[in-house]
Amino acid sequence: MSEISILDAEKGIIKNSKTIVDDKQFNDNPLFEDYQKLAVHYEKLFHQFERMIKISDRQQQQLLNTKDYILNYNEELKQLNATKDKFFSIIAHDLRSPINSFLNISNLLVNHIEKFTKAELVDMAGDVKKAGDNLFKLLENLLFWARIQMKRVEFKPEIYSLDTIVYYNISLLQLNADQKEIKITSNISEDIKVFADPDMLNTILRNLISNAIKFSNKGGNIAISHSESENYNKILVEDNGVGISLEDQEKLFRIDVNTTQPGTDNEMGTGLGLVLCKEMIEKHQGLIEVDSSPGAGTIFTFSLMKKPL
Ligand SMILES: Nc1ncnc2c1ncn2[C@@H]1O[C@H](COP(=O)(O)OP(=O)(O)O)[C@@H](O)[C@H]1O
Ligand SMILES: [Mg+2]
Repeated sequence: MSEISILDAEKGIIKNSKTIVDDKQFNDNPLFEDYQKLAVHYEKLFHQFERMIKISDRQQQQLLNTKDYILNYNEELKQLNATKDKFFSIIAHDLRSPINSFLNISNLLVNHIEKFTKAELVDMAGDVKKAGDNLFKLLENLLFWARIQMKRVEFKPEIYSLDTIVYYNISLLQLNADQKEIKITSNISEDIKVFADPDMLNTILRNLISNAIKFSNKGGNIAISHSESENYNKILVEDNGVGISLEDQEKLFRIDVNTTQPGTDNEMGTGLGLVLCKEMIEKHQGLIEVDSSPGAGTIFTFSLMKKPL
């Protein structure tokens, strides 16, 4: 409000107050009008001050919001940077060693093939196949992960019967389990439904079950079960294998540290499986948790919505 309008308002209020205050005792006091003016003036000033405080509160809140935004943004940038570092470290290290195997073996074959016995050649062919399989698995994981990062993975959740999907994935991995004489059981009943993207749910289950097989000893047991809360169904994949130390548990889902270890049959991995699982479960607004004790076994639990909220 400009000074002139404050003065105008002041005059108006004084005029009104003259008609309201009809007390001779005060009106006769020669200072009455001055006091009254002063009081009105202070009141105006007070309101103005109040408005200014309100504006500065608002500005302070805006500043706090901006600070929050910048902190979040910073966190996101850190994450992106870690993602980029991980990407390069995988390309630099993990892709290098299987490609090196390829090159070494193919060099030997090109230069000295006549020196090898048939049995040795069969061995080498086996090594080439192993290196190729690993390379392909790593590349597939890496590309899938990159596609998720770029938000190029379609997310089409629908309501599915959980046990059908669980049994389907067990059947895909049955051969691997049989080789280590590992028994897989599921006690999920037919009426349990989840709201999930089927491709992602398959990938999550395959990752968790194949980890359970990989880190179980010969003759081990894997149990898949379920529990529920109001809106979520929880799926538990439990093994009685080698377990994970507390220190490693904290690193499992992080992209910026590599936690891969060879399985009980020396199966090699990429260290990307659980990172991918976490990304996909979070896309479903679910959570993944681990509970493990070294030597006793591991339980991975993840939650999926029963239906869209
Ligand atoms: N069920 C499990 N039991 C014991 N260790 C596990 C289990 N699942 C995962 N881990 C540990 O976590 C690491 C990371 O797992 P993951 O992200 O699937 O990568 P990868 O299987 O390719 O190594 C594994 O190498 C292993 O050390
Ligand atoms: Mg894995």
